[in-house]
Amino acid sequence: MRSAATIKVLGSALWALAFAPGAFADDIRVDKGRELAQLWCASCHVTSANQLTGADQAPAFQEIANDRTKTDKKLRVFLLDPHGGMPPLNLSREETNSVIAYINSMRPQKNQNPDPPDDYPDPDGPSTSG
Ligand code: HEC
Repeated sequence: MRSAATIKVLGSALWALAFAPGAFADDIRVDKGRELAQLWCASCHVTSANQLTGADQAPAFQEIANDRTKTDKKLRVFLLDPHGGMPPLNLSREETNSVIAYINSMRPQKNQNPDPPDDYPDPDGPSTSG
């Protein structure tokens, strides 16, 4: 029956589409994050392999990416309310997601980096600064 075949083709096309936009959006996000990092973070952080220097106290983004305990969630919480030597940057939610996507794109084994569970031991211990 012809219509059944058509539906089948349509079905798999829709199936493919259902995944494609997500991946596409991620790429855009990583690009956006790279741009934001160069604009707003590079004065202190080394944000890419092409950048030679940053502030001594600020960890290079590659260093952050190499540390699996720095999960999306932790980065998000930190960026919403930075502390230590880092000033609050008032990033929007979308900007925050973009810089996190950019940092994630620098992770050593991209597809083998599932977020550790929430109870993953925090090497710094519980925060005492409130
Ligand atoms: C004025 C300098 C400065 C700017 C600008 C800055 N940072 Fe930072 N950032 C720091 C310093 C210093 C630290 C270390 C804070 C500490 O450990 O006490 C830090 C820490 C961090 C950390 C935490 C790393 C960790 O070890 O948990 C992240 C993530 C981060 N910065 C992301 C960003 C992003 C993203 C931007 C740009 C949107 C940015 N920073 C802009 C100075 C800066």
